[in-house]
Amino acid sequence: MKEKVLKTLNEQMNAEYYSAYLYLGMSAYADRAGFKGTAGWLLRQAHEEREHAEKIFKFILERGDAPALADIKATPPEYKSLEDVFKKVAAHERHVTDLIDAAASVALDERDHATYSFLRWFVDEQVEEVSTADDILGKFTAAGSNPGFLFNLDAVLGQRQ
Ligand code: FEO
Repeated sequence: MKEKVLKTLNEQMNAEYYSAYLYLGMSAYADRAGFKGTAGWLLRQAHEEREHAEKIFKFILERGDAPALADIKATPPEYKSLEDVFKKVAAHERHVTDLIDAAASVALDERDHATYSFLRWFVDEQVEEVSTADDILGKFTAAGSNPGFLFNLDAVLGQRQ
């Protein structure tokens, strides 16, 4: 692949591994705060992010290039609340969407249509990721100070397979 495309894909792979790392840290926070269902949801999310990274890893190899497994930055040590966690999930997914859009633009600029086609799966995935995060976050606003809300939300999130 052209150097610019490979660099962008390697950066995106690292960003996906960071996402996995971020959600793993959030899962630990939720678990320790007693929200086991939410912890399970976030752990599943972390697994999905690792799968995203591995999709890119495999694609780079398929194209005959070398994946660059760079350092993954540390994640925030603490969160204020579950709402804080989901605010950060939603913000992070918006950031990842920007990265994917930029990567797709690089692929098009470099006339690498195979990479562009590959990245379209991620473009679609991001619509779902942002929408899911926004839906969960919206429930906090709708619930106001309803005392049973966190318990119910935890139970719902815990149903994720
Ligand atoms: Fe793979 Fe949630 O972005």
